[in-house]
Amino acid sequence: MADLLSDDVRYSYYGRAVGLTSPDDGDIDQIAALARVQGNSNCSAVPLHKVDKVKSELEARGLTPMHYVKWEGADTALKAARQVVEAFKLPENLRMIQLDAATPAPYLASLAEMALECGVLPLCGEQLRGLLKPAVCLIAVDQDSHVVSCAASSTFAHSDHVIFGRQAWWGMLATHPARRGQRLALILGAHTMLAMEAQYGLQDFMTGIEPGNAPSEAVCTRMGLTPTQFAIIGCADPRALTSGRMTK
Ligand SMILES: CC(C)(COP(=O)(O)OP(=O)(O)OC[C@H]1O[C@@H](n2cnc3c(N)ncnc32)[C@H](O)[C@@H]1OP(=O)(O)O)[C@@H](O)C(=O)NCCC(=O)NCCS
Repeated sequence: MADLLSDDVRYSYYGRAVGLTSPDDGDIDQIAALARVQGNSNCSAVPLHKVDKVKSELEARGLTPMHYVKWEGADTALKAARQVVEAFKLPENLRMIQLDAATPAPYLASLAEMALECGVLPLCGEQLRGLLKPAVCLIAVDQDSHVVSCAASSTFAHSDHVIFGRQAWWGMLATHPARRGQRLALILGAHTMLAMEAQYGLQDFMTGIEPGNAPSEAVCTRMGLTPTQFAIIGCADPRALTSGRMTK
């Protein structure tokens, strides 16, 4: 679907599933069709007052909606990222690597295993390697070549989209349980944002957080992101994705 729809300004993609960029770009039937074809889809800027209606219309079509609050940050996020990078370094026994075309496959396998164990779905490999569209994925690797933490960012809307063409999705934060509390997510997340700015000139970031995910809210607050009056509504086809959930 990403290949078929990549030229269409209405649709978004950052390496998980093709979605509708905002309710102004299409209707419920389009989100539903995308969810049926792919197992999952989303609409990434639903005003909060419309969330209940969108959810009930998806449910009426036999689909399972998921509500994430949309958090955003531009200047505040980059400022916070610079402060984090200034203040904290990775422990000496960890190396930070940006994935690219040459990154050996075992690193991606280790990343996928660690992230999935944390309940976080990695983006597809080409996206993580920055081969499909502007994107950065950073991993922290230990002395045994195991990935212990990761963060990623990617554009999601079509570059010609009038509102979201220059905004980047940011997230995929996951840290192995044994390594939590060492500011690894914060450090990788900050470097990821700064790399998106340095490599692609992107300065505006957003992410979706499930209400009540306190660790995620803490990291995002620390990164200069704030909750907005918009939601990202995920939508699963329960026949394909029985849990109704694609990722944290
Ligand atoms: C969320 C997660 C990535 C944090 O990883 P981490 O490397 O332990 O986080 P950090 O050490 O970098 O913490 C960053 C900040 O968040 C805070 N924080 C982290 N975990 C927290 C928790 N459980 N409760 C409250 N605050 C928390 C830290 O105190 C720190 O703030 P500080 O610098 O002001 O002290 C990790 O808990 C995880 O993998 N969770 C499961 C997956 C998930 O929910 N991912 C987010 C998807 S959006």
